[in-house]
Amino acid sequence: MRQATVIAPSLLSANFAQLGADVAGVVEAGADWVHLDVMDHHYVPNLTFGPMVCEAIRPFAGRALIDVHLMVEPVDALVMPFAKAGAGLISFHPEASLHVDRTLQLIRDQDCQTGLVFNPATPLHWLDHLLDKIDCVMLMSVNPGFGGQSFIPSTLPKLRLVRDRLDAYARGTGRRIRLEVDGGVKPDNIASIARAGADTFVAGSAVFGSRDWRATIATLRHAAECS
Ligand code: DX5
Ligand code: ZN
Repeated sequence: MRQATVIAPSLLSANFAQLGADVAGVVEAGADWVHLDVMDHHYVPNLTFGPMVCEAIRPFAGRALIDVHLMVEPVDALVMPFAKAGAGLISFHPEASLHVDRTLQLIRDQDCQTGLVFNPATPLHWLDHLLDKIDCVMLMSVNPGFGGQSFIPSTLPKLRLVRDRLDAYARGTGRRIRLEVDGGVKPDNIASIARAGADTFVAGSAVFGSRDWRATIATLRHAAECS
């Protein structure tokens, strides 16, 4: 019941001095989505992009969806600015929002897809009453804040749990929810991540740190789909 594979390079590992060119280049090289890591130096210790940067890169992304990953607290005030700036999907961490259902609805009201993000230590019970409002469940396979960290292996059994849950939900409702994984995804581990149930893969340093983005994206996709 898996959906088409999505490869979403994270701009955190792009060259910020030529962000527009890197966005256009990575989409041309086969990226399905462009992953934008928004960090506020509060929810996470790092500081990155605001809505103005999202708006500036939007024209360079062409057909690719901009996958905005909010690592901010509080969340709600940034939803509308990012939606206006061209986000296609907005995901956030449930513990960073006081009213998670309301935040999901707020994102939907802006005609964006919704994503709920789970840190390695965040329990899955946040899904209990919210699946109808979620388009993408994202499991962090590193602690959020930085690119280039190592994949945390306990993500694999957690992915299997979510996969089972999303498959049961799809059987009951006919609606399929994406399962995204973020952090430490590389050509040599993506097959096991896909086998555990992920269909959407963020890869920052693996893509932008490689010499041939097109070859790396193709390798990632092939390994995920042949898993
Ligand atoms: C971490 C970010 C990730 C990160 C992924 O907080 O959410 O998207 O940039 O980078 P890599 O693929 O290098 O682990
Ligand atoms: Zn991310």
